[in-house]
Amino acid sequence: MKNILIIGATGQIGSELTMKLRSLYPSGNVVAGYIKGAEPKGDLLESGPSHLVDITDPAQIAEAVDKYQVDTIYNLAALLSAVAEARPQLAWKIGVGGLYNTLEVAREKNCAVFTPSSIGSFGESTPHEKTPQDTVQRPETIYGVTKVTGELLSDYYAKRFGVDTRSVRFPGLISYVAPPGGGTTDYAVDIFYAAVKGETFKCPLKPGTFMDMMYMPDALRAAIEIMEADPSRLRHRNSFNIASMSFDPEIISAKIREYVPDFKMVYELDPLRQKIADSWPDSLDDSCARYEWDWKPEYNLDAMTRDMLTNLRKKFGIAQ
Ligand code: SER
Repeated sequence: MKNILIIGATGQIGSELTMKLRSLYPSGNVVAGYIKGAEPKGDLLESGPSHLVDITDPAQIAEAVDKYQVDTIYNLAALLSAVAEARPQLAWKIGVGGLYNTLEVAREKNCAVFTPSSIGSFGESTPHEKTPQDTVQRPETIYGVTKVTGELLSDYYAKRFGVDTRSVRFPGLISYVAPPGGGTTDYAVDIFYAAVKGETFKCPLKPGTFMDMMYMPDALRAAIEIMEADPSRLRHRNSFNIASMSFDPEIISAKIREYVPDFKMVYELDPLRQKIADSWPDSLDDSCARYEWDWKPEYNLDAMTRDMLTNLRKKFGIAQ
């Protein structure tokens, strides 16, 4: 990777990935692509170049690639699962139409492309425990449908046109930096905000709802390491299961209570999110990623909980 364009650079993953890439590569070579209404601000704006890139407009992608001689594109534009269910047409336009535009530019201009997939690419008929790398993918959400389509299209462009496409299936991502945006796994972020503010957390999912989760620093490392991996070792590309922890609301609330003893949680179920969560795996088998590009998570639930609480308290000026 020499010159990198991040499409969706002001979003949940993009805002942190852009800064991380700028700390590893010359920051002038890492371009923050944004849409109108979501312009970069603060450090993100000041630490490197930015360019208007609406993924639904191939000309804007091509213009940014030409201007900055981009050789690697991180395609992070997407609507998360619950939001996508409310706007399925837009979810398809961004998730699939946008990916097609990106792949076409990449084919013409010889760029590598990273596009995240998700635990949402699996559905009811997938084995839920230790979900294998290669298994049934019949999701019932539009989010999942765009992700499976994206995996297939990316593999097609790799085989048919030699475009260097790579991807990981992200679990629910947890971070204290960017606020979550309408995902099913986002309760596991909101719960920390409630805990540090001393509020009772209203959990939208019932006890026993297990899902894979990951702390953002591990997710960012995965996105960078997969793009830097030796291609001759990769048997899979689109997309690798990655995992670090799996828990349900009871387990995470008990963990938070170890550090915030008076933390309280009540259940106020959201039927849409519950239905989506029930159709997703409880835990992924990430042995292919470990074998093919040495994937290894660093944070477990305890380490993540301590780091989240410390950093959120700092963010809100709450005494430790
Ligand atoms: N975090 C995503 C969601 O909940 C899943 O990839 O929509």
